[in-house]
Amino acid sequence: MISEHDIRRSLHTKFFGGTIYTFDSIDSTNTFARSLKENDRPDGTLIVADEQTAGKGRQGRRWSSQKGMNLLFSVITRPLFVQEKIRVLPFGASLAVADAIEQKTKIKVDCKWPNDVLIDGGKVAGMLIETTTQDDAMNVILGIGVNVNQTEFADDIKTKATSLKLHSRQEIDRVQLLCAILEELEHRFEQLRHFSPQIVLDEWKRRTTMLGAEITLVEHQSSIRVRAKDVAPSGALIIEELNGRRREVFAGDVSILQ
Ligand code: BTN
Repeated sequence: MISEHDIRRSLHTKFFGGTIYTFDSIDSTNTFARSLKENDRPDGTLIVADEQTAGKGRQGRRWSSQKGMNLLFSVITRPLFVQEKIRVLPFGASLAVADAIEQKTKIKVDCKWPNDVLIDGGKVAGMLIETTTQDDAMNVILGIGVNVNQTEFADDIKTKATSLKLHSRQEIDRVQLLCAILEELEHRFEQLRHFSPQIVLDEWKRRTTMLGAEITLVEHQSSIRVRAKDVAPSGALIIEELNGRRREVFAGDVSILQ
């Protein structure tokens, strides 16, 4: 099991991971984060679990993960950003996960809108970002799942999911990777706090291979082929339909197949 002691030994952050909760098994680290009272969740609180019995994915999906194999964690922050910066948080968080993975494994990863991290088209990490408001301040719960050492996946996700071990052919130290992600996340939060959110968006755009490519967009239960053109300052994806019509789509409304 990942222990608080092991994390503290390797973590070099200013405030991410200041308070740490670790679990052998829990329903969902995001759900636990939500249930904590204000005093029990200072800015940067980290919740890590070896297993989730009701792991949540985006758009009401489930997130499944074999016990003890992967990274399942949530960070609670009170970023005090203006709304236009909050919208760019998912891109900063994806860059943080991507950079930490590359740093620790030397595997080349790709970012997919809105906040998936892929290797050779297979999903290696995803995040579920939830917000709550307390005393007029926005609390962000950033839940991240990374497939680290799992090498077999259930039939329904087998063709879509991958893991770091499947690509590096060796066991990855989960604590070292977790600490690297937390350090990169803190860096991206600071960058967003002090600079224009466009810097983060531009960096994300340089890193993704999906802009310019044809993708399948699933919207209102039907799929259409479109071209991904750009990401708007709001974080919406700008797509072009085959008839040349351009429009913006939002992460909560659509999903994208390769
Ligand atoms: C997605 O790509 O659909 C988002 C997956 C997010 C999974 C993580 S695992 C830790 C945290 N707790 C949850 O219940 N979900 C997120």
